[in-house]
Amino acid sequence: MTARSGGPTIGARERTIATSRRRETRAARLLKSPLRSAARRWRYLPSASKAPVWRAVFAPLDALDRVRGAGGGLPPRWLRFLVGDNYEGVGREFLGLFQRLGHLGPDDAVLDIGCGAGRMALPLTTLLSARGSYDGFDIVPAAVAWCTRNIGRRHANFRFRTLDVRNDRYNPRGALAAHEVTFPYPDASFDFAFASSVFTHLGPAEARRYLAEARRVLRPGGRLLATFFLVDPEARALMAAAAGSLAFRETAPGVHTLLHRAGDVHFAVAVDEDLARAWLAEAGLRVHEPVHRGAWCGRAEHVSYQDIVVASPSG
Ligand SMILES: C[S@@+](CC[C@H](N)C(=O)[O-])C[C@H]1O[C@@H](n2cnc3c(N)ncnc32)[C@H](O)[C@@H]1O
Repeated sequence: MTARSGGPTIGARERTIATSRRRETRAARLLKSPLRSAARRWRYLPSASKAPVWRAVFAPLDALDRVRGAGGGLPPRWLRFLVGDNYEGVGREFLGLFQRLGHLGPDDAVLDIGCGAGRMALPLTTLLSARGSYDGFDIVPAAVAWCTRNIGRRHANFRFRTLDVRNDRYNPRGALAAHEVTFPYPDASFDFAFASSVFTHLGPAEARRYLAEARRVLRPGGRLLATFFLVDPEARALMAAAAGSLAFRETAPGVHTLLHRAGDVHFAVAVDEDLARAWLAEAGLRVHEPVHRGAWCGRAEHVSYQDIVVASPSG
């Protein structure tokens, strides 16, 4: 039997397959919307609420690592997943960037703003001398506890602390508002401060406060190295063409969020470069030009994944 169109013949098997495909499509359509809304709900959940799930998911692998002694001195997988993806690779990369772009030396006093699970602290133990020092703080107690147990106890000049600061993604029940935080360190006490993938989780008022605090604790000639998603004309064009891996949308003037809800800055936030530069200047920080561009928006030429700004106290 030939098809009426004069096309290829359609046998019983093909008809069965075609019918089951139609059924699949109907079934998929029925499933799609609840699945999509469940995925959306999951995406919107704070990392803090997802932690027990990741802990359970990674439990067999973490147990295996423990039994085989294969953890390699790294945090458990669930913690790395939560606050420090590609732990070893990014740690190595930033150790090089700190030296090359931030002129970090072995005797420097270093501050790690939002230290997570020690992704940067661990490689810094190989660089900093006994005359140098490291202080890191974060708002996820489990991450800080791991750092204290596994890095602080082995390196007397490495200190970690928890600040109970509110962040919808990482610590939604925190007692302190980030825009009112005072870093627990004296004025002019560090040569080098850095924040890797932290300003990308702060709202405008919080970022301005953290820049002012970074400025306060830096010595004259000190350097701040901070990563951002900075929206310049090229990034804007690339985002419009959906060239990159992150689909930010402008939800307030100059502020672009990943979840596309105004005010949802803590999940991930990009800011107009002009705005970020105004905040840095307001904080009394002078940018060491140029800004080092990141690949996040789909740029062919880049230094790292996020954009990197190095700045020093201006007066
Ligand atoms: C993507 S993780 C990066 C962690 C670490 N800097 C690294 O590169 O491995 C973002 C970190 O920022 C921390 N964070 C978010 N808001 C913060 C705040 N207001 N103050 C300090 N840390 C914060 C989170 O707890 C989390 O550890």
